[in-house]
Amino acid sequence: MADDDLLVRTSDLLLGVATASLQIEGGDRNNNWYDWAQLPGAVADGSTPLRATDHWNRWREDTALMADLGLQTYRMSVEWSRIEPRPGEVDRAALERYREELAAVRAAGILPLVTLHHFSHPSWFSGLGGWTSAHSPDLFLRFAQVVVEALADVVTDWVTINEPNVYAVQAHLYDEAPPARRSWAAVRSTLRHMATAHCRAYHLIHQLQADARVGFAHHARVFAPLDRRNPLHRAASVLDRALFQDLLADAMLGGRFPRLLGRQPADVVPGRHYDYLGLNYYSRSAVRGLADGTFPGAPVNDLGWEVYPQGLVEVARGLHTRHPGPIWVTENGTADAADAFRARFVHEHLRAMAGSGLPFERYHHWCFVDNWEWAQGEVPRFGIVELDYETQERTVRDSGRFLAAVIRDGGVTR
Ligand code: NOJ
Repeated sequence: MADDDLLVRTSDLLLGVATASLQIEGGDRNNNWYDWAQLPGAVADGSTPLRATDHWNRWREDTALMADLGLQTYRMSVEWSRIEPRPGEVDRAALERYREELAAVRAAGILPLVTLHHFSHPSWFSGLGGWTSAHSPDLFLRFAQVVVEALADVVTDWVTINEPNVYAVQAHLYDEAPPARRSWAAVRSTLRHMATAHCRAYHLIHQLQADARVGFAHHARVFAPLDRRNPLHRAASVLDRALFQDLLADAMLGGRFPRLLGRQPADVVPGRHYDYLGLNYYSRSAVRGLADGTFPGAPVNDLGWEVYPQGLVEVARGLHTRHPGPIWVTENGTADAADAFRARFVHEHLRAMAGSGLPFERYHHWCFVDNWEWAQGEVPRFGIVELDYETQERTVRDSGRFLAAVIRDGGVTR
């Protein structure tokens, strides 16, 4: 399409979708979330990840649908609890199942990006203390090595860990993720161990695979003072950003551990620990102290999260200034059951990216199909493909057709 016919040009980006194993696969009881979902009241609608979208069995259909939509890239995760069901015991059949899927994804002309830890892990790992344990980086490294050795011929691009900051606070501050045990010490040790694991995995993966590209998916949101004239609101937003985002990015990407995360680990040398900046962006928070809210009158999605497209560029710029590099949007999306504003949401985020002058290279929309949204269960609808949980029928939404057209046309047309 000629540039004159385009409202937004995207031909310099790879466009696709993202998912996570536990949110789509179904059928696995050997993990922290299934265990936790058994507790009354843990998950809002009482559902568990056991059903999800049955992708474990329906991956061929899903891959064919992605190919029909012309997707260029697909971010997915491999499930640790399936691959290493008991400590040190590798399930080769599970690895083989992933290899088959990834080979099919590639054969469909879609570039895979594989996450090693996306909020879920084996029950036995939780039993050993999960990420609060000082052994967790070693255990993760052992798992990472198994996966990379087995799948290196079908995957070159890796996300080590998804949203460490969100995981740490949901699990240890807000009761929104297992083990839901409140403790500041646990928030800190989790972040420390995840950052250590990432830095070590960055080197390990490069040793195993010369052409690997490795990063992590950083959750970044805009923290803005609810009232700019209020010094408390201003100070709290600066603090939120530093504590929730920047300190962690410095440890993960720069290998430089701030005091708050403890002493510099002996096995991490400061220096660059990424090949791209992975960014999950959803929303902006109006900060007024310890609790966040939204700005009065701001557009919000089904979960009450503000829709604020420019924020993607604001957080990307902040991250890129501290840690320069190519930017891969590892997630961006919205809960919109009626599919009333998702296409506009995509359009506006792509427009903000295109006008930013920043080196965006990839965009993964969250999510491919409606999926199990952790503590919120089956209610939020993030998919460009609608799921009927009872029949498991998939129906492409208008927003899915919109994304397909953007890819086909090399941008958003007039
Ligand atoms: C980010 C998380 O990585 C993903 O698992 C989740 O479903 C989306 N945010 C939407 O909340």
